[in-house]
Amino acid sequence: MDKQKYSIVKKDCIKWMNSQKPKTVDCVITSPPYNLRIKYANYNDDIPRKKYLEWLGDVSKGLKRILKDQGQIFLNMGYSNTDPFVAMDVAQVFRKEFVLQNHFTWVKHIKVNDTSHGIYKPITSSRYASATTESIFHFTKKGNVQVDRLSIGHRNKTHPLYPELYSEGRYIAITRRKIAKRMKYSNYKDVLANASKKEKEFFFEELKKNLKEKPYIPEKKKCIGNAWYIPYVPTSRLSKQVGVEKGHNYRKNARADHPATFPEQLPTQCIKFSGIKKGSVVYDPFLGTGTTLVSALKNKMIGIGTEINSNYINFAKKRLQNTK
Ligand SMILES: C[S@@+](CC[C@H](N)C(=O)[O-])C[C@H]1O[C@@H](n2cnc3c(N)ncnc32)[C@H](O)[C@@H]1O
Repeated sequence: MDKQKYSIVKKDCIKWMNSQKPKTVDCVITSPPYNLRIKYANYNDDIPRKKYLEWLGDVSKGLKRILKDQGQIFLNMGYSNTDPFVAMDVAQVFRKEFVLQNHFTWVKHIKVNDTSHGIYKPITSSRYASATTESIFHFTKKGNVQVDRLSIGHRNKTHPLYPELYSEGRYIAITRRKIAKRMKYSNYKDVLANASKKEKEFFFEELKKNLKEKPYIPEKKKCIGNAWYIPYVPTSRLSKQVGVEKGHNYRKNARADHPATFPEQLPTQCIKFSGIKKGSVVYDPFLGTGTTLVSALKNKMIGIGTEINSNYINFAKKRLQNTK
């Protein structure tokens, strides 16, 4: 395996994987073609389902070969309203080789309290809702890989809309309840209503002691769960990354005309969640415009990508040269 910070190989990923030493990769973050008739430069995204799934079966076998025993795969798969099972079918293929340790839903757009967040492709339809999510399947060899879920955790600070659920007040209430239970009362109110003067004194001393020993820490992180809100980045911002000054709103300039890229935050979130150490090997078999490698580089990993299209590769190289 190459020891430089990143390497890009213009080769079919299966051929490349089968030519590598086994058990050399720590983490795979990738998005294969979905077979949804997307127009790639030199890949036909419209092949019979059986053939498509057999091909991804070979990909999964290659991945199993090069992945270390404690390695991890983050497999991003989308779907369409007319082909809603494709992601699940692919997951079933990977299931033959791996254990599904986590299943994330990539939320591209969401409405929260009358405010829309994120970008998506709206459809005109009298029967379908616009598809605003995709899957990220987290596969491992045995389902027992330690991850660092708090690295992407969120703060414990008081929630502006639901202070009763996430706040210091809530933390104190839980502590009060625990002490009341230990004293055989059902809750804090029960203590106030039915405990003796001596018991109440004991209760409040205990509360003070408990909160001193284990205070509420607003910065303490919590697991965010498996719904990941990751918005697309506007092309104008992407173009700055590759140094395009003019015409920056066109996909051609900002993404080498690539029809299906994921935002950098997606591989970044996977790398952080995986808990892999700096200098670990991150591989993307379907490199496209190099998004996984940009993130790997920024996170001090060794990135490897395989891709069959020269135009995408040249673009990825340019992008990586501009990555600090
Ligand atoms: C969904 S795109 C990946 C996009 C990437 N995640 C990004 O952000 O740019 C899939 C890519 O796989 C490439 N591809 C298709 N067949 C391949 C193969 N056998 N080996 C390597 N790459 C392949 C396509 O050219 C396409 O760029």
